[in-house]
Amino acid sequence: MADIDKRIIKLPRLRLIDKYNRCLNYLRISITDRCNLRCIYCVPDDLHQLLPHKEILRYEEILRLVRIGVRLGISKVRVTGGEPLIRKGVYDFLGKLTKINGLADVSLTTNGILLRDNIKKIKSAGIKRINVSMDTLNRQKYKDITGHDMFDQVWEGIELAQSQGFDPIKINVVALNGINDDELTDIAGLSFSYPFHIRFIEYMPIGIPHTNNIGKQLLAPEIKKRINALGQLIPVKNGVNDGPAKRYKFKGAQGEIGFIHAISKHFCNECNRLRLTASGKLRACLLSDHQEDLKGPLRKGCLDSELADVFLRAVSHKPYDHNVVCDQPVMVAGRMSAIGG
Ligand code: 5AD
Ligand code: SF4
Repeated sequence: MADIDKRIIKLPRLRLIDKYNRCLNYLRISITDRCNLRCIYCVPDDLHQLLPHKEILRYEEILRLVRIGVRLGISKVRVTGGEPLIRKGVYDFLGKLTKINGLADVSLTTNGILLRDNIKKIKSAGIKRINVSMDTLNRQKYKDITGHDMFDQVWEGIELAQSQGFDPIKINVVALNGINDDELTDIAGLSFSYPFHIRFIEYMPIGIPHTNNIGKQLLAPEIKKRINALGQLIPVKNGVNDGPAKRYKFKGAQGEIGFIHAISKHFCNECNRLRLTASGKLRACLLSDHQEDLKGPLRKGCLDSELADVFLRAVSHKPYDHNVVCDQPVMVAGRMSAIGG
């Protein structure tokens, strides 16, 4: 690997700007398609489609691709999965990733199962911001949604992360009609007693067919209406590094509320994301099947400049928007856990 890193890099100083003038500076990296949970909205019925290990990018390969991405303008990276913390060697990898020059922000999305026992390692690796998936405050419901009785452990992990100074801690809540819709106000209410950013995510019917009974989609305007019972939501201005969440705060609250209008209001016009899948494909849009293969050229010994061309090609194919509409499942190749949500 060392000889690859030492190659003289003569990359074009091109920025990842697409034909609609969107500047793609944010790379989400799925480091594994494996997970220790089985969330009803994520795991397909057929559990036997896991990628063989050799098809998953090695850490050195990911680090090399990130360095190339940074040369092209990537400044923000999020590590995701599957569940990233179950991959062997992940803390060492995170430590190397956060040291890459030119990356202003490296964050982690986790389901929180391994947070409690590894929080110090995550902190030592240089990660300051985490997103934790937590769709309910009810232990039994947590088990129903994820397939595992792990609510207490995850909650402990979240509190420990807070005491260790992670900031912000974002709590990802996928809003599911008939499942956690009766809890939305309680969950939003957490922002009064904790400095957490609660992010309500519209369920995206991706890569199904699910046999699970997720009812009619629960969209952000409806969620907002319901939690308004807690007080007035005051808009918070988005920062430059913010994602597509529309941010709010209740008066007097410590934390924030965010809405990810994945379906009800396309935020495609402001989308700054690229996704590197666990199998080494670069996707410019979560909801479009177009992807460029990086692993093949990487393993054939291509130069950094040739790999940079693959980045540029992926960007040139970024569609203007998606056409997913409410309550209509969309089939995309690959699963959420392999693409990285
Ligand atoms: N729709 C919406 N959000 C999803 N996530 C996973 N699958 C879906 C889906 N089908 C969320 C998880 C996690 C984040 C990375 O993506 O809850 O918090
Ligand atoms: Fe695992 Fe996240 Fe999918 Fe749940 S949503 S099964 S935690 S990858």
